[in-house]
Amino acid sequence: MSWSCADIPDQSGRVALVTGASGGLGLVTARELAVRGAHVVLACRSVERGRAVAGRIGGSTEVVRLDLASLKSVRRAAAEVRDRHVRLDLLVNNAGVMFPVDGRTADGFEAHLGVNHLGHFALTGLLLGLMSQVPGSRVVTVGSLAHRAGFGGVGADRARSGSGRRSVTAYGRSKLANLLFARELQRRLGAAGAATVSLAAHPGLSPTGLWHGDAPAVLRPVVAAGMRWLAQPPQAAALPSLRAATDPELPGGAYLGPARRFGSRGAPVPARSSRAACDAAAQGRLWELSEELTGVRYAFVPAPVPAEPAVGVCPVTGARG
Ligand SMILES: NC(=O)c1ccc[n+]([C@@H]2O[C@H](COP(=O)([O-])OP(=O)(O)OC[C@H]3O[C@@H](n4cnc5c(N)ncnc54)[C@H](OP(=O)(O)O)[C@@H]3O)[C@@H](O)[C@H]2O)c1
Repeated sequence: MSWSCADIPDQSGRVALVTGASGGLGLVTARELAVRGAHVVLACRSVERGRAVAGRIGGSTEVVRLDLASLKSVRRAAAEVRDRHVRLDLLVNNAGVMFPVDGRTADGFEAHLGVNHLGHFALTGLLLGLMSQVPGSRVVTVGSLAHRAGFGGVGADRARSGSGRRSVTAYGRSKLANLLFARELQRRLGAAGAATVSLAAHPGLSPTGLWHGDAPAVLRPVVAAGMRWLAQPPQAAALPSLRAATDPELPGGAYLGPARRFGSRGAPVPARSSRAACDAAAQGRLWELSEELTGVRYAFVPAPVPAEPAVGVCPVTGARG
C-alpha cells in the first residue's frame, strides 16, 4: 500500500527538530510536521532563511541557528534547545552537503563527514537527554543511495583529510557513516532500555540545492541525465523521512527509501543497504571515533518504569483489589 502525507498521524503536542530546514527536503519535512500539529524547531545555518521558511509554512515553529560545520555552533544550538524545551519527540538529522566550497569544517574535519555525520552525531548526543524518557520519541537520520560509494569505510585519517571536497567517495563515506550511526544508536538505545528509537531514511534522487555544489565537471552530464529519468520532486522525496518519523508501525532500526527505479523514486518502503552499512564492528568503531573527534559522550537513560496501578484496600474486609 502506498504511503503519503495523508497517512501522517496527528502530531499535536509533539516537539520536532529538523536540521537543514531552510530548503529542499528539510523544508518539506518541517512543513508537513507543522501542518500535522507538531511544534517544529527549524535548525538552520542562516536564521534569516529559517525565519523566511517559518513565515511560509505557518503552524507552530521557531528557528535555532545551527552550523553543523562548527562543533561550537552545535553545542550552542543544543544548549538553546535544552533551555527552551523540556522534551523533544523527534529529531530529524536531515541537513547535508555534497561537493561543498570549503573542504574542511571549522574543527578541521573533512567537510562531508564533518557536516553530514560528525555534526549530527554531536547534536544527537547533546539532545538525547530531552528524548530518552519521552515515549515514542525518535531520531531519524537521512542517508543516501550513495552510501554504497563509501568505499574503504570511515577512519581517523580520512576524517581529517583535506582532499574530499569534490569526491563522490567522500560524500558516500559520510552517508555510510549516517547509516552506521543510526544502527549503532538503535543498538545502544535498546540496550539501555531508552524510550527513544533510531531509524534511517533515504530520499532517492531529487533536484534540490544539494546538486548545486561544486561537482566535478565529468559528473554534471551524468547527473543531468539521471535527474530526468530517476528523480522525484522534494515533496515526494521527503516521504521516507516523514514515514520514518511518524509511522507508529515501524520498529527502531528500520531504514526506508523509495520503492521504484533502483530506489530513486516512488512511495516510501523498507529499503536495502550495503553490507558495509550492516557491519556491527564498523558501527562500533565509528561510534568510538565520533566520540573521540567531537568530544561528545552519550549518556543513555532508561525509560521510566510505569507506575504500579494503585491498589485499594477495602476498609471493611482488608482485601486488596
Ligand atoms: N536531493 C537528493 O537527491 C538527495 C539524495 C540522497 C540523499 N540526500 C540527503 O538529503 C538530505 C537533505 O538534502 P537536500 O536534498 O534537501 O539538499 P539541500 O536542498 O541542499 O538542503 C540541505 C540543507 O542542509 C543545510 N546545511 C548545509 N550545510 C549545513 C551546515 N553546515 N549546517 C547546518 N545546515 C546545513 C542547508 O542549509 P543552507 O540553506 O544554509 O544551505 C539546507 O537547508 C541530505 O542529508 C542529503 O545528503 C539528498
